[in-house]
Amino acid sequence: MAGRTVAFVASLLAVGMAGVPGADAQQRPRPPVTVEACAPCHGIDGIAKDVEVPHLAGQNVVYLYNQLKAFKSGKRPHKEMRYMSRHVSEAEMEALADYYAALPRE
Ligand code: HEC
Repeated sequence: MAGRTVAFVASLLAVGMAGVPGADAQQRPRPPVTVEACAPCHGIDGIAKDVEVPHLAGQNVVYLYNQLKAFKSGKRPHKEMRYMSRHVSEAEMEALADYYAALPRE
């Protein structure tokens, strides 16, 4: 049941953001390559281990994307995220937001 919901959400996202990898018909989207850079802090499943790091799983895709852009531009100041977002392209930001938003919140 939960898996179906995720697939449904993923397909909705795929419609909204054509060409973004990660939202295929699987139960979970395939993680974009750069998720490996985020996983140490945010987890591969979007659930952070550290109490000072926010969970990303199930967060709104638009919110996640906007935060990444804000970190990159410096609008939302944060040393680690500024550094991380500098090395992430627009397309990768979309894919990462897409990936984390489609994960189930545990
Ligand atoms: C060194 C640890 C670290 C790494 C690596 C890291 N983050 Fe973060 N991230 C954080 C912390 C800490 C915050 C909270 C920032 C704050 O307090 O404003 C955050 C915040 C965020 C937010 C905003 C969440 C919210 O609820 O507002 C997003 C989105 C995000 N990170 C995405 C990513 C992505 C995508 C990557 C990989 C490219 C990544 N992060 C890599 C530590 C990290």
